[in-house]
Amino acid sequence: GETRLYHALDAGRTFAEIAMSAVRYEMDGDVGIVIVDYQPVNALSAAVRTGLGSAFTKARDDKNVKALVITGGGRTFIAGADITEMGTEKSKVKPDLHELQKMLEEFPKVTVAAIHGTALGGGYELALACHYRVAVKSAKVGLPEVSLGLLPGAGGTQRLPRLVGIDAAIDIITSGRHISASKALDLGMIDAVVDDLPGGAVAFARDMAAGGQPPLPVIARNDKIVSIDPAVFVEARRKVAAKARGKNAPLVIIDCIEKACNAPAEEALAFELAEFRKLYASDQSAALMHYFFAEREARRVPGLSAEPNDIASAAVIGAGTMGGGIAMVFANAGIPVYLTDVSNEAVERGIALIRKNYETSVARGSMPRAAADRALALISTTTDYADLADADIVIEAAFERLDIKQDIFARLDKVMKPGAILASNTSTLSIDAIADATKRPEDVVGVHFFSPANVMKLQENIRGARTSDQTVATVMALGKTLGKNVVLARNCDGFIGNRMLQYYTGEAEFLLEQGATPEQIDRVAMAFGMPMGPMAMRDMSGLDVGVLVREARRASLPPDERFSPILARLVDGGRLGMKTGKGFYRYEGRDKFPDPETAAIIEDVARELGIERREFSDEEIEFRLFAPLVNEGAKEIEDGTALRASDIDVAWVNGYGFPAHKGGPMFWGEQVGLDRIYAAALEAAKRNGSRWGPGKLLERLTNEGKGGWRDA
Ligand code: 3HC
Repeated sequence: GETRLYHALDAGRTFAEIAMSAVRYEMDGDVGIVIVDYQPVNALSAAVRTGLGSAFTKARDDKNVKALVITGGGRTFIAGADITEMGTEKSKVKPDLHELQKMLEEFPKVTVAAIHGTALGGGYELALACHYRVAVKSAKVGLPEVSLGLLPGAGGTQRLPRLVGIDAAIDIITSGRHISASKALDLGMIDAVVDDLPGGAVAFARDMAAGGQPPLPVIARNDKIVSIDPAVFVEARRKVAAKARGKNAPLVIIDCIEKACNAPAEEALAFELAEFRKLYASDQSAALMHYFFAEREARRVPGLSAEPNDIASAAVIGAGTMGGGIAMVFANAGIPVYLTDVSNEAVERGIALIRKNYETSVARGSMPRAAADRALALISTTTDYADLADADIVIEAAFERLDIKQDIFARLDKVMKPGAILASNTSTLSIDAIADATKRPEDVVGVHFFSPANVMKLQENIRGARTSDQTVATVMALGKTLGKNVVLARNCDGFIGNRMLQYYTGEAEFLLEQGATPEQIDRVAMAFGMPMGPMAMRDMSGLDVGVLVREARRASLPPDERFSPILARLVDGGRLGMKTGKGFYRYEGRDKFPDPETAAIIEDVARELGIERREFSDEEIEFRLFAPLVNEGAKEIEDGTALRASDIDVAWVNGYGFPAHKGGPMFWGEQVGLDRIYAAALEAAKRNGSRWGPGKLLERLTNEGKGGWRDA
């Protein structure tokens, strides 16, 4: 990455030299221009802060300077505090961000932040200390600290409400959303949109300077934060808590914004800083920081040197829910895509569903009408494979049966242009077996999306035994184009994610046998941060489906593998889940209720098996549910299914809704202790069969007393 390159360039230079090159200072007539140029994203590293401090001093003391413009070199303005320096000695180098802001707020001449790319976190907070903010049309601004389990610790919770009001500030800071320049202008986050930088900003600064004295700094403007009804915060806490699902930072952010309204600025700023430090020291922030780097690391495949091919057109086979969703993913990214199926009716049904999905997005306000129309226009339909021939990639999302897929791939092999990528969205079948149907196995790869494909962020790429480096590089890069988070899996049963899932749902049923209730299990899973409990999830996907999948797999499993009979027993009793109005729960519409009949069936099963039932603490349930995930994840690292532990975290956060503020299952496993996971796996193997036992890697790490996957 560029960071690494940059730090290589740092070597052998003094800190002063690095700071000098990190921030340049130029003049355009009577306007001083400060250019922050520190790869990759101009973060507020020690070098940048030092450079800014001396540039501000120079501009302040220069009588010929009438106004000051601050801008970013390279692809962006300042993307925030330097996350890689947080907690290190470098973060203590003076001036700190607060001191820089003070210099700007006391600046005797007009200051203008000139934004392109992104002004995020501490970067936007620096801009908030300027008298004015201008941006080019493509720029985005925001305070995304909440995504790292933090709050804006340099006055963001104090200054933003003064510009945009309480409601908008709560929304922007608790969501961490990036705001487009035009929206930011409407809200008051910026003062003008300019055509070019730094020219547009210099002209703006000159105009403002001609008007006389600089205006009041943002921190001294109070009209939007006085006389706020305390009920506003009660309501905001209720709303935000419901969405936060256990995350701390969003509620602390509201505390800080409330403080802005009730205390003098100095006191409220000190409160914000103290709260920032508490959050920084929290487990949640450590987990989210881990996750931030995990997502970026997952894109990199060691040893892969091939350059990705350009993907300018695509085709999707299968116009069902999944295929339609995948077509939308390409269209949303601006890539023209063919949608195809066996009959005109199937294709028509597919495109009608897509149209409906876009209509819903527009009605909900999550997509502008023009964007939806643009995307829809990029989707063409056909039933003739010959039409797909020129596509750079084709993704098959047909029925999950090997003979069907092999037939499709044999036909694709005949028509597709040389070098086109032939991808399967399979979640269970072997990529190698699918590739066997073609004469170009090097071009065959798994590209697995999660339902609904246009919403879920995970793209799990699966490398077959003969998949070429070129193909792997291309589908990894494609993830970024499509706005997905990618991981690379080696071909195996269930790949990274689904291979683990069966242990989570399986253990939930064993817990039922032993005395836990569906309601308790689901409540614990949701309190942990999962979007839905495992029992409710089963009810939604259909208990009969679960039974069928198990029966199909049984032959390939060790003879000592045990399945709880509860699922099959419920299905026999006509309880197939939501679609029949009863499963683990009883349903009235979408509302679910505990069902005494289900409880009786579970008790019967336990009695027949001679299992003694007991009470479970929430803590024990939590550990029992998630420990088996970690155990199977360790086996994936061991056998090369996953490149690294953190990739598994990325897969589970994006594909299964595992809470990012717990860092992902593998990070969570390190927190609870790998030795405990190991002991639990030994127990589980006794109860459920040898497949549940620990692998060699976990055993070795435990025996050597190692606490983390990096020690592997
Ligand atoms: N500090 C240090 N490195 C950072 C960084 C940051 N704030 N933000 C990004 N990087 C690094 C990434 O790790 C990556 O490094 P790599 O190439 O070695 O993997 C490189 O910059 C490029 O990042 P992306 O791959 O994410 O590039 P994109 O172009 O997709 O996205 C971005 C750019 C929108 C800036 C995105 O990186 C991002 O959202 N960064 C985080 C921004 C953020 O959270 N800022 C707030 C920090 S906390 C703060 O400011 C506290 C303050 O309130 C006191």
